[in-house]
Amino acid sequence: MSNKRGKFIVLEGLDGSGKTTQINKLERHLKNKGLEVIVTKEPQADRPIGQLLRRVLTQDEKTDLRVAASLFAADRLDHLTRRDGIIDALEKGAYVLCDRYYFSNYAYNMVDVDLDWIMSLNREAVKIGKPDLHIYVDVPADIALSRVTNRGETELFENLERLQRVHDNYDVLIDLLAASEQIFRVDGTRDSHIVFAKIRDFIDSEIIGN
Ligand code: TYD
Repeated sequence: MSNKRGKFIVLEGLDGSGKTTQINKLERHLKNKGLEVIVTKEPQADRPIGQLLRRVLTQDEKTDLRVAASLFAADRLDHLTRRDGIIDALEKGAYVLCDRYYFSNYAYNMVDVDLDWIMSLNREAVKIGKPDLHIYVDVPADIALSRVTNRGETELFENLERLQRVHDNYDVLIDLLAASEQIFRVDGTRDSHIVFAKIRDFIDSEIIGN
């Protein structure tokens, strides 16, 4: 990659953690600094693998959960390598803000599928597209679920027992990967402007300041 490489920042958290609100605020903050910013998410809504995953999540399509786990990894590799994908954007010097990445694959899918196997499916993404920062918006499962239920849409993984396990999994993964990944955990139960102030201060000093 060229010296111009941008920065790759991922937002992680339970469904209903407020990641989307934080991404939007971060986009505005970075654009106000004159930076080029690309906002994106996984699974991808405009690509065949992501569209298939959407059908799996809404349960219009039934698959073994190993198949779903591997499709998420395939969608990620497509997201990185497609024309105007994450790698192209970084090479042009953009800040890429991505809603979910391989921590979601680990935390959600290790409930049903062997974690080592999921990690092996993501090895290439770690190699060619390791984020400069994972921001984990930490919200307990009951609060996250009540926010999602208020939206009136519940998907495959959106039930309390599962989200509690996913929440525990994020804790395990953050410990496990602390040495090899840059992770910033923020308490997502506070007001969104307080949550954002913490994210903004961290990014201004640790990512832009670099
Ligand atoms: P989605 O409806 O796109 O929105 P949100 O991110 O706001 O919750 O949810 C995607 C769902 O897919 C979510 O329940 C997490 C799950 N998921 C995985 O299980 N594995 C993955 O690799 C990714 C990216 C998401």
